[in-house]
Amino acid sequence: MSAINMNFASPRMMLVAGGGVRQIADVLAKFGLSRPLLVTDPFMVSSGHVRHCLDPLAAAAIAVTVFSDTVPDPTDTVVEAGVGELRKGTFDCLIGFGGGSPIDTAKAIAILAAGGGKMRDYKAPFAADKGALPIIAIPTTAGTGSECTRFTVITDVDRDEKMLIAGLGALPLAAVVDYELTFSVPARTTADTGVDSLTHALEAYVSKRANPISDSLALSAMALIGANICTAYAEPRNASAREAMMLGASQAGLAFSNSSVALVHGMSRPIGAHFHVPHGLSNAMLLPAITRFSVPGAETRYAAAARQIGFAGALDNDAVATAKLVTGLEQLNKDLSVPTPADYGIKEADWNGKMALMAEQALASGSPGNNPRVPTAAEIVGLYREVWTGAAANR
Ligand SMILES: NC(=O)c1ccc[n+]([C@@H]2O[C@H](COP(=O)([O-])OP(=O)(O)OC[C@H]3O[C@@H](n4cnc5c(N)ncnc54)[C@H](O)[C@@H]3O)[C@@H](O)[C@H]2O)c1
Ligand SMILES: [Fe+2]
Repeated sequence: MSAINMNFASPRMMLVAGGGVRQIADVLAKFGLSRPLLVTDPFMVSSGHVRHCLDPLAAAAIAVTVFSDTVPDPTDTVVEAGVGELRKGTFDCLIGFGGGSPIDTAKAIAILAAGGGKMRDYKAPFAADKGALPIIAIPTTAGTGSECTRFTVITDVDRDEKMLIAGLGALPLAAVVDYELTFSVPARTTADTGVDSLTHALEAYVSKRANPISDSLALSAMALIGANICTAYAEPRNASAREAMMLGASQAGLAFSNSSVALVHGMSRPIGAHFHVPHGLSNAMLLPAITRFSVPGAETRYAAAARQIGFAGALDNDAVATAKLVTGLEQLNKDLSVPTPADYGIKEADWNGKMALMAEQALASGSPGNNPRVPTAAEIVGLYREVWTGAAANR
């Protein structure tokens, strides 16, 4: 092994427990916090889910202001509105409650409020290390892992670009990881967010920036997610599957936050920005083809991943295991009813017309540079094409 030279950053505290959200007031008290601005989305309010967080705060006599204008794939305009809300009060922390979208919005509000200007000023490789207020993250999907990552992903509406923003300003102070909050997640979102977690773990593990601590978390996450994703999809109230998926999602978040994501995420963000495909779903559409392309760059690691996820057995050699990884991912998409881009309603001419721009944006994000096999722009265009035709042929 070469000499280790790494950084590891994580929330100062992670409360991982079924029903853990009921202790939210104690978590705030531990850090001397008492004036939160709660960031969530309109559905969490209209469905009543936000009460899981508001009721225990009310019981502890903590007054909360709710900002619920978050949108899926949060935009710079929503973040600016959130900063406006923050300036109206004397808040001492932000609580991000919901899926990755509200948590990412809370993070971006903290970063923009600290430094001013426009969200695009903070785009990676800028080091967004300053946050105006500490963030407490409570995920309700399993998940983006955003509760324990140093990233936030914000769409620049003028440029139709999903920007990766990275730095300690985006890292929550504390996370409350309560799988009971995910019982109500619909099947489609369970599948999409679960594949997002699996992609985080796999990409963290094969990344050029993998390290011994991210490896152990990524391997654990792959085993948990591989064994439970289809059960959580089919049986929403299955507590042990939901618990395993939530733990796996957080472990995968810690893993990729301290290693990196790679080509799948690099190519996925432009699909989200141009065609408004949910993040985990665009990952799923890409995952088999991008894995097939990338295997030659890290065959041993992809083989280990295949065994960990459960697609290959201990007796399979690396070549067999990596072949089973690709077919296993294709089968998983079928089991989770992942639509092709065409099924999703994207027109072939629009897809083809955007491929060159999407390839450029994917490369500019930096994520493909961490892939074990680094593609050229022309190869990325070829992969977008293959995702279209391969998906069609697979049906
Ligand atoms: N910061 C990071 O490290 C990171 C990592 C991966 C993805 N992301 C970002 O996260 C966002 C996606 O997050 P997401 O996949 O969690 O989706 P989301 O937050 O957009 O939520 C998807 C839908 O599920 C609903 N929902 C959430 N929790 C629910 C619950 N418990 N019950 C019923 N419905 C529920 C929401 O209201 C919404 O309609 C994207 O913008 C993506 O780019 C961020
Ligand atoms: Fe992701």
